[in-house]
Amino acid sequence: MQKLIINGGKRLGGEIAVQGSKNATLPIMAAAVLCGGETVLHNCPRISDVYSAMKILTYLGCKAGFDGSGNTVVISSETISANDISDELMREMRSSIFFLGALIGRTGRCRITLPGGCDLGPRPIDMHLSALRKMGAVIREEYGVLDCFADGRLHGAKINLSFPSVGTTENIMLAAVLAKGVTVIQNAAREPEISDLADFLNKCGADIHGAGSSRITVNGTEKLHGCEYTVMPDRIACATYLACTAAAGGEIIASRCRPSDMESILGVFEQMGCIVHTHGEKIYFSANSPLRAVDPIRTMVYPGFPTDAQAFVMAALCKAKGTSVFVENIFENRYKHVDGLKRMSADILVEGKVAVIEGVPRLYGAKAAAPDLRGGAGLVAAALSAEGTSEISNIHYIDRGYEDIEKVLASAGADIKRE
Ligand code: EPU
Repeated sequence: MQKLIINGGKRLGGEIAVQGSKNATLPIMAAAVLCGGETVLHNCPRISDVYSAMKILTYLGCKAGFDGSGNTVVISSETISANDISDELMREMRSSIFFLGALIGRTGRCRITLPGGCDLGPRPIDMHLSALRKMGAVIREEYGVLDCFADGRLHGAKINLSFPSVGTTENIMLAAVLAKGVTVIQNAAREPEISDLADFLNKCGADIHGAGSSRITVNGTEKLHGCEYTVMPDRIACATYLACTAAAGGEIIASRCRPSDMESILGVFEQMGCIVHTHGEKIYFSANSPLRAVDPIRTMVYPGFPTDAQAFVMAALCKAKGTSVFVENIFENRYKHVDGLKRMSADILVEGKVAVIEGVPRLYGAKAAAPDLRGGAGLVAAALSAEGTSEISNIHYIDRGYEDIEKVLASAGADIKRE
C-alpha cells in the first residue's frame, strides 16, 4: 500500500503548471462514444479515473490510450461491440455513469450497474434516470442492474431539474445530441466543465446552445464525427496547489489555468490574507504573512464556492487566526478529512453540515488516511504546514484526481515522497 511521507514546514515557491481538468475529461471521454470516429484529446491528466474510463472504452470495443508520454488521449469509436459495462468497471468511479447517456444515444441500448466513486454520502442517480425516461428510454432497475432501451432514437424533451446537478446535466446532453428533436434543460448546472463538454460536442458536429447558463438547448443531429480538442484546466487541482501554498507559506505562480473560473475560491484566499494577482492564464499567489479566519463559507453550485475545494481550504484555515465556519450544502458526508486534520492537532467541531475551525498556532505531523479524493488533498495541505513528519495512506484516492501530486509539490520545494 503506497503512502505519502511529508516533512512539513517547507515554504513553497516556483511555478506549477496546472493539469487538465478531471471533471471535464471524464464526460468528454464518454462523449467520444457518440462520435463514431477518432477523437484526439489534449491536456488529459494521467490520473487513475482517466485510466478507468479508458478501460470502459476498451471494453465497449473502442480503442483508447495515451499517445506517447504526454497528455494526449486518442479514442477511436468506429465500432462499438458491447453495450453493457461490467459491475467491476462501473464501480471504479462515479463518472462511469456518463456511459449511460452516451451508449443509449449511440446504440439505443445499455446495461450497466450502479456507479462507484468516493463515498460522500448518498449519491443517487434518480435525476439521470428520470430525464432519460422523459426522452423515451425504458429503464428497468433490478438488483442494482439498469437495463435501458430506446425504441430507435431517443426523442428531445423539456427537462426541469429539481437541482442543478452537474452529472445529470452532462448525461442529458450526451443522450440528447443524437436524439430526434430539441431537448431543453431548465435549471441546468452552470459549472465550467459543462461548457467544456458542450464545446467538445459542438466541435464534433452537435448543436448545443446555452451551456454555462441555466437553460441549455440541444438540437439533436443524426451523426457526429471525431475531432481534436484541448480539455480545460483543472480549477480544483489549481485551487489545491494554492491551498497548499497558503498552508505552508510561500509564493507560487500557477500557470496554464483559467482564473475566471475560480473567483469564489480566490476571494476566500484573499480574505485569508494571501495576495492574488491574475494575468491571462496565470495566478501569482503569495502567502507571506500569518493567515486570518474568513467569513462563513457555504458550498454551492457554480459560481458559488465549490464543495470540491472545501477540504483543502479548511486545511489551510486550521492555522488561521480566529474562527472559520463551513456549511457543506452539496454532499451529506464530506467532512471525513476532519478526523485526519484533528490528528495533526487541528481544532475542528463538526455538527451536521456545519464545521467550525478554531485556528491553532501549530499543527503537528501525524499518520492519517485519505478518506476520499479531495479529503486526501486536504490532509496533504495540512501536512505541508505541520511541524514534523506525516504519513498519508490510502493515496489511491488522491491518485484518482491528481497527476503526480508528490512530484508537483516537490518541484515547488515541498519535502514529500511516495513510499
Ligand atoms: N443528486 C441526486 N440525484 C441525482 C444526481 C445528483 O440527488 O440523480 C445529488 C447528489 O447526491 C449531490 C448533489 O445532487 O448531493 C450534487 O450532485 P451532482 O450530480 O451535481 O454531482 P456529480 O455529478 O455526482 C460532480 C463532480 C464532483 C463534484 C460535484 C459537485 C464529476 C465527475 N464529479 O459530481 O466532483 O463534487 O459535481 O460539484 O464531475 C471530485 O472531483 O472530487 C468530485 C466529487
